[in-house]
Amino acid sequence: MPDLQRPYLQSYPNGEGYFGRFGGNHYPPELRPALEELASSYQELHQTPEFQRALNNARVGLQGRPTPIHYLENLSKQVGGAQIFIKREDLNHTGAHKINHCVGFALLAKKMGKKKLIAETGAGQHGVALATAAAYFGLECEVHMGEVDIAKQSSNVGRMQLLGAHVVSATTGQSALKEASDSAFNAYLEQHAHALYAIGSAIGPHPFPMIVRDFQGVVGREAREQFMSLTNGSLPEHVVACVAGGSNAMGMYSGFIDDPEVVLHAVEPLGKSDELDQHAATLSYGRLGTLHGARSIVLQRDDGTPASVSSVASGLAYPGVGPEIAMLHEADRISISAVSDKEAIRTFFRMAKLEGIIIALESAHALAFAIRLASQCLSSERILVNLSGRGDKDVDYVLENYGTDASATLS
Ligand SMILES: Cc1ncc(COP(=O)(O)O)c(C=O)c1O
Repeated sequence: MPDLQRPYLQSYPNGEGYFGRFGGNHYPPELRPALEELASSYQELHQTPEFQRALNNARVGLQGRPTPIHYLENLSKQVGGAQIFIKREDLNHTGAHKINHCVGFALLAKKMGKKKLIAETGAGQHGVALATAAAYFGLECEVHMGEVDIAKQSSNVGRMQLLGAHVVSATTGQSALKEASDSAFNAYLEQHAHALYAIGSAIGPHPFPMIVRDFQGVVGREAREQFMSLTNGSLPEHVVACVAGGSNAMGMYSGFIDDPEVVLHAVEPLGKSDELDQHAATLSYGRLGTLHGARSIVLQRDDGTPASVSSVASGLAYPGVGPEIAMLHEADRISISAVSDKEAIRTFFRMAKLEGIIIALESAHALAFAIRLASQCLSSERILVNLSGRGDKDVDYVLENYGTDASATLS
């Protein structure tokens, strides 16, 4: 892979929707007209002053942006080494970064004359964010969710219903995020004349990965400016994000991608162990494949079928990764690491007790790695973590399985 072209964001994807050899459109030809309509409407609409004004109103009034950057002083002192900062995407209305691209898709749907939004969800964060954006813009909403996740994230299911969304249970296979995505894509195939698919991550066929990255780019743009004003014009040495499909990571990386001195880290879930079916560490253990309409890196068995996945964080339990993340990995622009369920849970408790913040189990993966990294760095170095979501949705699960103090169960 040759050096990445600059300016990066204008150079990728190419005209066919490829990021290097990853991406493209590998869905049934019946879906092609809908995807072409989406790509051309997006190009036509998203930079108009009217679209930007409406988007900005939603960002400020509905979402509560900008979200701040916060220095984790207690944690940094306890760990030693680098200073750890977080970009507080957990403070978004609905509690996670997902709403950044949901409001974008909802506005786009409205401008395209669509009546309904369709999506899949894992932890339920994307579903709640989309149901919120649909209510705000006066659209119908249909969210597909694995049966297992429906049971685990019941409070988010109730929220979606309260916001007027129809929740569809996906009951095939592992009844989790992959099956929810299959089910949502099928619904889109049937309903695309009046509905828009607001995908949950930077995955799927072109133009979804590009649109999600662009709408999430608000995180990186804000973070870059805020960090520089906090530190008299310097950039962080390290930027860290957890990765399933890559929406929070690509949003954050967007702000620093053309700065080669900033190391970009992607953190994957190592689940219960490094054995196939026991984790969802796609970049670490996957290989070239096609999943949900895009060429990418996929965790798969010898016969090419997607592997089962396991992670304590439902939002990270996905056997693929977005094509742009796959390209950045192949180009050595991102450095990958994996964090186990146990390490993530320990970090969840540590953040609550030490910093007063209950973080999402997905984000706990990113922070757990940042802690590891900080201890190997100089005290002059700075690590900026995308704190993608808050942990309210995980509290019941954690209390039930670990109580209020994890030290006994995790030792
Ligand atoms: C809080 C949170 N962080 C991270 C993720 C992972 O998704 P992505 O890789 O698209 O950011 C999810 C997915 O549900 C999530 O809810």
